[in-house]
Amino acid sequence: MPKMLKFLTILLIAAFVFSGVFNGAVSAQEKPTLRVFYGSVGDIAQDEAILKRWADENNVNVEIVYASQSATEYLAQLQQLLAARSTDIDLIQFDVIWPGILAPNMLDLGPALEASGMKDMFYPRILANNTVDGKVVGLPWFTDAGLLYYRTDLLEKYGFSAPPATWAELESMAKTIQDGERAAGNAEFWGFVWQGNAYEGLTCDALEWVFSNGGGSIVEVDKTISINNEAAIRAIERAAAWVGTISPEGVTTYQEEDARRVFQAGNAAFMRNWPYAYVLGQGGADGTQETAIKGLFGVTNLPAGDSGKAAAALGGWQLGVSAYSANPDLATQLALWLTAPEQQKERWLKLNNLPTMPAIYTDPDVLAATPWVADLVPVFENASPRPSTVTAALYNDVSVAFFTAVHDVLTKKKDAATAFEDLELELENLLGSEFSVGAPPPIE
Ligand code: GLC
Repeated sequence: MPKMLKFLTILLIAAFVFSGVFNGAVSAQEKPTLRVFYGSVGDIAQDEAILKRWADENNVNVEIVYASQSATEYLAQLQQLLAARSTDIDLIQFDVIWPGILAPNMLDLGPALEASGMKDMFYPRILANNTVDGKVVGLPWFTDAGLLYYRTDLLEKYGFSAPPATWAELESMAKTIQDGERAAGNAEFWGFVWQGNAYEGLTCDALEWVFSNGGGSIVEVDKTISINNEAAIRAIERAAAWVGTISPEGVTTYQEEDARRVFQAGNAAFMRNWPYAYVLGQGGADGTQETAIKGLFGVTNLPAGDSGKAAAALGGWQLGVSAYSANPDLATQLALWLTAPEQQKERWLKLNNLPTMPAIYTDPDVLAATPWVADLVPVFENASPRPSTVTAALYNDVSVAFFTAVHDVLTKKKDAATAFEDLELELENLLGSEFSVGAPPPIE
């Protein structure tokens, strides 16, 4: 019997060891998978490399779920997944205008942020924007502001000593350059390209025209529906007159990347776009990508309107964790890592995604590599927010109503006065009795 016992003991130990090895093998194969819902405007190829570094270091599979490049479609896709309580996405990239819409479906990152020691490193204004009823819906990943891109070589060729300070100056410079370049044989050449498709990007461009003209911010922080005013109407009429003159007819279907393609091919004098287009125009961080305008363009504030002030729409993207994620802690770690200073610095240098921490703007490496970053600080610090805080969960409906009205004017379906009269009524119905119609506040 003792022999038998010994045999059994050996068998048991062997089984134990074998099962241990087996378990080990299984857990190595089953490393956790995180799915990241990504897909903002621009080239995120280099961000894939940053993500992969974290994935390798932490033995996690990270998969990117690519979403639409149109913020409007992106939100629709995201809302569908969240409404279905989908466990298919863990980490979510989301727009600066959506905290009020997404808050119920996102985890509170406040405690993790507190524990990370990073809380005081972010711009308080961006963190405040991402906080809904005390809940930190997402960590500030990058900020954004509308800019004017211009061809330095062409300004010089046509005798202009500086980029345009007003929309009127932009119009006349764009026309002179366009006429000259066409006469010189480039039939494809246009004066000014921008975002005229019916989507969130048009809300940004049109807010810039309206605000800089003294026409307000569509709906004001004090719940005044202000869009139906003379200055706003004039601003949209002016933009509508660009279509088919200094801007192609097709601009009413353009998103950011369409405008960038035209400008980067050397076929436009001016472009409205976000900072990401800068590094791409220069051929990417290593300068090796194909571009016709490398070293031939500059970037500056958008022109001022009749108010005498320039306006830049405030943009930007955040990283949040889905409330339905099966791996919330891991996804939170990834959000913290991606928004940490080292990764923000890398994303600025490679992708020109503006950091959300003031300290990065005075970092010696950053200033040495991109001295122009210092000029951008006042632009986004003074940028005009869209009315997303005051309209919260209804923001997207407000924006859709606004860009549809503006698009109707750009495509000559309606005149601006009728479009904004109709819009005012639509916003009153949508926003309810807490909101009332009034004049925009005077611009400071
Ligand atoms: C940029 C901005 C974002 C904005 C979008 C519109 O991605 O960062 O805030 O909504 O453009 O197209």
